[in-house]
Amino acid sequence: MEEVLQVQIDPNRIPSHIAIIMDGNGRWAEEQGHERLYGHFHGVESVRNIVEGCAEIGVKYLTLYAFSTENWDRPQQEVDGLMSLLVDTIRKEVEILSKNNIKMHVIGDMNMLPEQARKELHEALELTSHNTGLNLIIALSYSSRWELVNAVQKIALDVQKGKIDPEKIDHQTLQSYLTTSNFPDPELMIRTSGEYRISNFLLYQLAYAELYFTNTRWPEFRKKHLVEAILDFQARERRFGKTSKQLTEESIGS
Ligand code: IPE
Ligand code: IPE
Ligand code: MG
Repeated sequence: MEEVLQVQIDPNRIPSHIAIIMDGNGRWAEEQGHERLYGHFHGVESVRNIVEGCAEIGVKYLTLYAFSTENWDRPQQEVDGLMSLLVDTIRKEVEILSKNNIKMHVIGDMNMLPEQARKELHEALELTSHNTGLNLIIALSYSSRWELVNAVQKIALDVQKGKIDPEKIDHQTLQSYLTTSNFPDPELMIRTSGEYRISNFLLYQLAYAELYFTNTRWPEFRKKHLVEAILDFQARERRFGKTSKQLTEESIGS
């Protein structure tokens, strides 16, 4: 890792959860005169590099948006290519992940995935389930609206069964019905490729995340870009609705 940049990171203020919208694969490929799939293929190298970087820096949770619910509407050839890339990548990478103590999780509508991909994923989750290092969360066939609708349906069913009192539903209740119930909210959200939108990603969980946008296309995103994003994050003041003065007083008081 680029030592000079990394030493500038304040070890006491490392975001515990980073979420990334890995965007720009298709455009990157086309800019090089290749098919879009070529970009997805190269994007895997960035995933490898960033997972390693997060583990080195000491990030506890990394969520990668790999495929959205809306991405099913892409041309069939691209969807098929992405699915087989996914199966291949998991098969190739799972042992390394396991050796590096990385625990894999998946969030999204698994019912939409081809049988083979589901099987491969299931094995990877199983194999890494006892690991205690970086939690790698893959958002696959995921969208926030799908997740929220799902959560509301489950809550309604539990109300019907008398398991929960509707008057007692609070933030904690809703949180516990989300696919991310076991993870803290992301503190830093990075989107590559120069698009300034959320594209149905963790709408509820990003409530207080710091957002970082970069023009770098995902296949070119490397540890040094990650470090730049973290340094940018560390230069910000997170106020959570309070005033700057209150925060200063609190930090003096503690
Ligand atoms: C992100 O890159 C990967 C997926 C959505 C699967 P894109 O495929 O969206 O690439 P662009 O945004 O079209 O360049
Ligand atoms: C968001 O990227 C989804 C992923 C990166 C997996 P998209 O490329 O699908 O988003 P839009 O269509 O530009 O909003
Ligand atoms: Mg895109």
